[in-house]
Amino acid sequence: MKGIILAGGSATRLYPLSKAISKQIMPVYDKPMIYYPLSTLMLAGIREVLVISTPRDLPMFEELLGDGSRIGMKLAYKVQEVPNGLAQAFVLGREFLNGEPGCLILGDNMFYGQHFKAMLHEAVESVRNGGACVFGYEVADPRAYGVVEFDRDGRVLSLEEKPANPKSNYAVPGLYFYDGTVCGKAADLQPSARGEYEITDLNKLYLAEGTLKVKLFSRGFAWLDTGNCDSLLDAGNFIATIQNRQGFYVSCIEEIAWRNGWISTGHLADLGKEMKTAYGRYLERLAAKG
Ligand code: G1P
Repeated sequence: MKGIILAGGSATRLYPLSKAISKQIMPVYDKPMIYYPLSTLMLAGIREVLVISTPRDLPMFEELLGDGSRIGMKLAYKVQEVPNGLAQAFVLGREFLNGEPGCLILGDNMFYGQHFKAMLHEAVESVRNGGACVFGYEVADPRAYGVVEFDRDGRVLSLEEKPANPKSNYAVPGLYFYDGTVCGKAADLQPSARGEYEITDLNKLYLAEGTLKVKLFSRGFAWLDTGNCDSLLDAGNFIATIQNRQGFYVSCIEEIAWRNGWISTGHLADLGKEMKTAYGRYLERLAAKG
């Protein structure tokens, strides 16, 4: 399984903040936003990741993350010339995936909660046998999202993108697992009324095929939004609260790489030494505890 992070778009809802810089590079408390989706892929055990962004912003992600070898990963980069929809990730990522199953995560989607790693591993396993696996998350107002409707037995009835009159309160977060047929399916999609290749249309193809699984996040699990300046600040405060209370960092990519066995304890300590911040001291503390 390989991963794709889509970190494009112009984020006009964050203007003027995002006028000259990518939203996904902005701080969420103590680290750039893209660390959060990257850490989700890492928790799923995914070691090879393609980062897709705009011609303007891609070099910044490359400068931040490099080829990934410092955290035991392999990172590649691809420009999206025109922001014409999320499903395009699988047109741009076709060569990279090379027929393998793939997980797409949106560069502004943050997840935090118990049993997350187990859910991710279940999703990886599920698409190994074919099909797609996406998630449902209950929100008060789902109109800004893809919305999934279930019948009484929990079977998926419908999927709609940003419906004016949602049929349920279950939003579909920006985290999608697909089998090896995904690039072929994405290539056949037609643009929607708003001119975009919609990820929801891709999911509908799997639904029509009878191979779409939807797993639900439970109450208490955090799927955070970073769409406007209030939700960005809330997300930062949430991370600060959790981290400062327990002392564990959220989405610390070096820690996850180390816990995954992708980098050695000595290397973790070296990475810590390079940073004269609490973040650096945290890595050194982890390494000292072994
Ligand atoms: C996109 C998807 C939508 C999904 C959402 C999750 O919307 O189109 O289906 O629910 O991401 O963040 P966007 O945020 O690009 O408007």
